[in-house]
Amino acid sequence: MHAVLRRATWISLLVFAVNAGAQTTQKQWQLQKTGDAPLVLKLVDAPVRQPGEHEVLLRVHATSLNRRDIYVKAGQYRGEMKPNLVPLSDGAGEVVALGSGTKRFKKGDRVAAIFFPLWKDGRPKPEYLGSLGGGGLDGMLSQYVTISEEALVSIPKHLSYEEAATLPCAGVTAWNALVTRGHTQAGDFVLLQGTGGVAILGLQLSAALGAKPIITSSSDDKLARARQLGAVAGINYKTQPEWEKGVREATGGAGVQQVLEVGGKQSLPHSLASLGFGGHIALIGGLSEFGGDIPAYSLMGPNATASGIYVGSRADFEALNAFLEKHRLKPVYDKVFDFENAPAAYDYMDSGSLFGKVIIRL
Ligand SMILES: NC(=O)c1ccc[n+]([C@@H]2O[C@H](COP(=O)([O-])OP(=O)(O)OC[C@H]3O[C@@H](n4cnc5c(N)ncnc54)[C@H](OP(=O)(O)O)[C@@H]3O)[C@@H](O)[C@H]2O)c1
Repeated sequence: MHAVLRRATWISLLVFAVNAGAQTTQKQWQLQKTGDAPLVLKLVDAPVRQPGEHEVLLRVHATSLNRRDIYVKAGQYRGEMKPNLVPLSDGAGEVVALGSGTKRFKKGDRVAAIFFPLWKDGRPKPEYLGSLGGGGLDGMLSQYVTISEEALVSIPKHLSYEEAATLPCAGVTAWNALVTRGHTQAGDFVLLQGTGGVAILGLQLSAALGAKPIITSSSDDKLARARQLGAVAGINYKTQPEWEKGVREATGGAGVQQVLEVGGKQSLPHSLASLGFGGHIALIGGLSEFGGDIPAYSLMGPNATASGIYVGSRADFEALNAFLEKHRLKPVYDKVFDFENAPAAYDYMDSGSLFGKVIIRL
């Protein structure tokens, strides 16, 4: 017993020594609420929590915004939101301190947080999808984050922190839709909607898979930029509201094999009308409101399948990283904001100028 206690004390001392010199205070952004007023972002001083047994301490270097973060700030989070929440699910950084029982990482490792901290592999379970960073739990808009080592993946060596921070939500969602659930093949036509985070990462992945991406946008300038990333066709969904006609034209009448449906209620009928024989539609987003109906024959007729997607597992993230590494593929991102200027990054997301991901650098 004494020997066990002595060993535990030595391990604690060792961990303390290894982690000595670590930061004890930090700056972090919180979403704060006063009375009935909307949630406001406040930059505060906060303690740095040293890692527990199976946790590591990260020095966060980059985070990225997703549409979900805009919904959270607008008070539209569907679950129970933590008071004084540190927002943003997505971030990448360096391991600077280790808990006594950690095995997966060492100090100096470059890592990114996974979206669902408990979903490692296999099918999703309700308990995996409950609490997540930047919603029910504190997220990444903080100089330091103390986090379970199980909720992290290594970053591919060829990626910067900014590039890696684009991946946890939008990248894994696009990967899950295209590969894990969609089984995209070289030569498939892939339909992407708008030029936001999921769509642009989906475009880059489709092109690297040897597929033929077709993209919609409200802006001809953005369609031109998307073509430079490998889109074989671009359709303006504002000037051509029945854009499925453009999709049919671009595919020689056959329709697409994959749809990454992010538009939601208004776009769903057009997406279904774009679906080719044996195709797959990944139900992802609700940019025009979540919901909509799928008439049975719209899938039965073309022998198509539909999947409901909710980001993906750690295994999906690791498979995505391996693919990026193999293809030396670097996710593109749009604008980078300084940590002190985080509210401006939120404003930019809503400016209409967005093309892909918005980054906050720390
Ligand atoms: N289920 C999941 O796991 C999951 C994961 C990630 C995201 N999502 C959801 O998927 C959607 C996209 O997320 P995101 O982070 O990629 O969004 P985002 O980066 O904010 O994308 C915004 C862009 O989408 C385009 N857009 C806006 N309204 C549109 C509409 N009605 N139809 C088609 N395109 C439209 C616009 O592009 P243009 O300026 O080019 O027109 C806009 O710039 C959101 O609803 C988000 O909540 C779901």
